[in-house]
Amino acid sequence: MRRILLSLVLLMLPALAMAQSVNVSVNVDTSKPGAEISRHIYGQFVEHLGRGIYEGIWVGANSKIPNIRGYRSDVVAALKNIKVPVMRWPGGCFADLYDWRDGIGPRAKRPVRVNVHWGGVTEDNSFGTHEFLNLAELVGAEAYVSINVGTLTPYDASQWLEYMTSDSKSSLANERRRNGRDKPWKVKFVGIGNETWGCGGNMRPEYAADIQRRYATFANTPRDMGTLKIASGSHDDNYEFAEVMMKNGGRFDGLSVHYYTVPRVFRDKGAATGFPEAEWASTLGHARHVETIVTKTAEIMDKYDPARKIGLYFDEWGTWYDQEPGSTPGFLYQQNTLRDAEVAALHLNIFHRHTDRVKMANIAQMINVLQAMILTDKEKMVLTPTYHVFEMYVPFQGATPYPASVSGGGYRNGDSNLPSVDVSAARGKDGKLYLSLVNLDPNRPAHVVTNLSGTAKGRILTGAAMDTRNTFAAPHAIRPVPFSGSSDNGKLAFDLPAKAVAVVAVE
Ligand code: AHR
Repeated sequence: MRRILLSLVLLMLPALAMAQSVNVSVNVDTSKPGAEISRHIYGQFVEHLGRGIYEGIWVGANSKIPNIRGYRSDVVAALKNIKVPVMRWPGGCFADLYDWRDGIGPRAKRPVRVNVHWGGVTEDNSFGTHEFLNLAELVGAEAYVSINVGTLTPYDASQWLEYMTSDSKSSLANERRRNGRDKPWKVKFVGIGNETWGCGGNMRPEYAADIQRRYATFANTPRDMGTLKIASGSHDDNYEFAEVMMKNGGRFDGLSVHYYTVPRVFRDKGAATGFPEAEWASTLGHARHVETIVTKTAEIMDKYDPARKIGLYFDEWGTWYDQEPGSTPGFLYQQNTLRDAEVAALHLNIFHRHTDRVKMANIAQMINVLQAMILTDKEKMVLTPTYHVFEMYVPFQGATPYPASVSGGGYRNGDSNLPSVDVSAARGKDGKLYLSLVNLDPNRPAHVVTNLSGTAKGRILTGAAMDTRNTFAAPHAIRPVPFSGSSDNGKLAFDLPAKAVAVVAVE
């Protein structure tokens, strides 16, 4: 009898699961195309921090790890696969103590410094200007270089830019040639400082605006390079720097803002794995807060730049947890789970909704640091769930977004009150309509009915646990698998599992 009962329960399980499903409606308005999704919102941030550069990408040409002129071959291939459009370097906080002259010339002769911000370790400068700009070229990304406004002069910045970008016969351009690079590199973006409100100099906003005016005056490249200058702006819910910079910062093309997603509070952030559901919910809630920051910063920008010529650049964003136990202090090494995949997808969807202002974003940081795409351990490499989201979202690079609204459902946990589903819709460069669907609810699937017709095929990223992740022992525990839509009374519909990110093309 017990066996029969058990069989009956097992037979009923799919039905029970369906019964728990949340009904959600999605409306995509293809009559109102928005401004193009800048590919640069898929940018990466690369700092001299922990194992982000050394070990993560740069192993040197003599390493046993297969490499292309010193860059790990596996990592380069993985980065090319997600079509990294732009890389920001050398920091972060590191940038305002960085002397570019330390990182040029024969490697054996480069000075060794202490990386005071990140673990107090020695920095041998074997990765410098040539290594970064050649990496950007190798991967096919634009270079975004942050100049030092904290501890060097405008003259230094001007000389560095001349060294990198001049095609003349000047002494600096010739020095670059002697160091192995004939043609100038293209430097598309120049950051005028980093976090001037904090590690970049603890400035007052008015002083930071003056610093911006002064350094931007001298931070030049050849006119036909079309280099864009980015002013260091505000962070989190502090809008003062954005306001003062827009008002008094002189001429610039982009205003930066930094926002990190932390499950709890900064001094006690919470773990990257093994977290309770309350921290799943709070993390996603905090990630969604980026929309408020976009909206409020855009309102400020609209006052001073009603024609919307200046871009809003989220040049640092992502999750920040307690470091992995046992990892080197100051190296900001953290695991990356399905929760991070959702955080990434929510940010990208929000950036898609504000393309009239958001022109660049750089996730922090590309490899082995914070919300990384890639983790490495000696010769081993794993792709994180965040990597998979960036890969699935490639069709959104340069796509034309459409407004998409969601109704129905809802996911509550403690103080967190979230939608069940988040959606982004856009017409890709290949002419196809793409949808991204994120189920924020870690427990209940969603039955999503759209106003669209047709069929849809794509891939989905999901897992059994909220902290499903790839490890060096199990590198493919989570990766995208095929996913398709169905029909509900003639409308395109989806049965979206709990805690999942899907991207589909509608035919
Ligand atoms: O990404 C780590 C650090 O966070 C950066 O160096 C700094 O700009 C920010 O505070």
